[in-house]
Amino acid sequence: MCGIIGFTGGREAAPVLLEGLKKLEYRGYDSAGIAVAGGGRLTMVKTSGKIENLCKKVESTEISGKTGIGHTRWATHGAPNDTNAHPHMSPDGRFAIVHNGIIENFAELREELIAGGAEFLSETDTEVVVHLLSRYYDGDFKKALMKTVARLEGTYAIGAICSECPESVFVTKVFNPMIVGVGIGENFFASDVTALVSHTKNVIYLDDGELAELTPEGVTIYDATGKEIQKKVSRIMWDMEAAEKGGYDHFMLKEIMEQPHALKSAIDPRVKNGKAALSELCLSDEALRGINHIIITACGSAYYAGCAGKYTIEKLTRIPVSVELASELRYSDPIVDEHTLLIVLSQSGETLDTICAMRELKARGVSTVAIVNVVGSTIAKLADSVIYTYAGPEIAVATTKGYTTQVAVLYLFAVYMAEKIGKIDDAEAKRLTGEILQIPSNIQRAIDLNPQLPELAKKYHSNSSLFFIGRNVDYAVALESSLKMKEISYIHSEAYAAGELKHGTIALISENRLVIAIASYEELFDKMMSNIKEVKARGAKVLGVAREDMKKIVAEADDVIFVPNADPLFMVPSEIIPLQLLAYYVARENGCDIDKPRNLAKSVTVE
Ligand code: M6R
Repeated sequence: MCGIIGFTGGREAAPVLLEGLKKLEYRGYDSAGIAVAGGGRLTMVKTSGKIENLCKKVESTEISGKTGIGHTRWATHGAPNDTNAHPHMSPDGRFAIVHNGIIENFAELREELIAGGAEFLSETDTEVVVHLLSRYYDGDFKKALMKTVARLEGTYAIGAICSECPESVFVTKVFNPMIVGVGIGENFFASDVTALVSHTKNVIYLDDGELAELTPEGVTIYDATGKEIQKKVSRIMWDMEAAEKGGYDHFMLKEIMEQPHALKSAIDPRVKNGKAALSELCLSDEALRGINHIIITACGSAYYAGCAGKYTIEKLTRIPVSVELASELRYSDPIVDEHTLLIVLSQSGETLDTICAMRELKARGVSTVAIVNVVGSTIAKLADSVIYTYAGPEIAVATTKGYTTQVAVLYLFAVYMAEKIGKIDDAEAKRLTGEILQIPSNIQRAIDLNPQLPELAKKYHSNSSLFFIGRNVDYAVALESSLKMKEISYIHSEAYAAGELKHGTIALISENRLVIAIASYEELFDKMMSNIKEVKARGAKVLGVAREDMKKIVAEADDVIFVPNADPLFMVPSEIIPLQLLAYYVARENGCDIDKPRNLAKSVTVE
């Protein structure tokens, strides 16, 4: 969602801020702006729409200064117009701030400030912050900021500049991510490392309540009481090329194609002596043996990754697994005890509903394992154990390698736990791990097997509505494939457990309705063939998805996508690949903004 960049150094701030904002575009936004301190004043430029609009506006503005803040806004309070865009400046022009998150008590604060004579320009919750800063300022910027944030309830990351301190930029956070980039003679902060990595790989992850003051010479961090503290400087492990398109038309296509490599990074370091080994898991063998219920929670595709992982974990461990939407779990008064294990899935590690569900269960004494991609993210910090997926930066809003690496880590977890609790022996653990190690090459084969996908997209892209059907784990694949299709191609799509069609939905099947029938799960292949016949009998066109040895499907389906033969326990990552590609090519045919679909944000940091 919203993005923040801050800079101070020996060069003009505006170009650095604009470049940073371009790196943050992928998160989703509808307006953008910057503010710069220099010449004893602040200059602010902001606009609705794309960063290009902002760049044009900046070009025609006299803006000079070596310290500044920038923001991309995804509207929550008030329309995405120029006035509501960030930064927000105090009426006296002394302060400018940018804000991610939601100030929950803004209405009370606004009323109080208006009663004291303040005049508000925007409809945002954020504007209260600049008015509070003005009210509390007595010549000490840091003190004013600390007094201000002490009044705020809700979630925030706030960057602030002051015309009277042109070499300092402050940043603080509660609940929203914020990373300080430590450079030489210049320093930065950003809500996302992708905006920092072209400048420096040395970063400090701010914790809730901390305040950082950046000057060109250095970074000083304070705790919530204002006391100076020392923080570890971490090194970002990937470089700029990882966050660039590298010759592909879209990040999504690049990220799909990166999956053989991404899966290798997720799997290989976790195989020791031929067996799954999760050294990150802070759970003794005894604690593992005590678990009698596993809850997986997540949102969106990460939730569907959980749905896929459930089949394998249950099959191998014989422990019941419930997969819960985080936005529902948090309000469901869940039945848990010390024998429950919570597995949290999140690519970004910043999804607010997932964080809240996790906090809710942690408060009830449940042990938590997070499977996360972004290092140092909120979920990673909150978890008792964190297993990173090592997928590298994922820029496209539609997740691909984020999803498949989550599924692969769940597979490793299933084998690891099954052995630890005595459900499988050493030889079986080795055999199963050997199958998991095949996933990267199976993914490559899934890509190679299907050169016809752009043609299929041409044939089917104009359907206004379609169905994905599947059984067992293929149903989990249908759910994710359907989400992928609708979020980037804007085609209405539904995923159905194939056996459920007859209970109502088949009424929607009419002449030429496209049904994508996923039939790779061997045990239920014949049942799927019956479902295919049922929809064909009602005029549907069927695009079948089956394992390459299941040639019988050709007789029934109008077109077929083949996926590699693999152990049914570990098929999902290779099975989803052609369906990710199909969604991509359909969206391309439909002229959609593939990497930044309308109304969506990469990481959903509001409820
Ligand atoms: O960062 P997270 O994995 O927690 O994100 C969860 C969902 O918001 C995310 O998977 C979303 O559904 C994607 N747009 C799907 O492609």
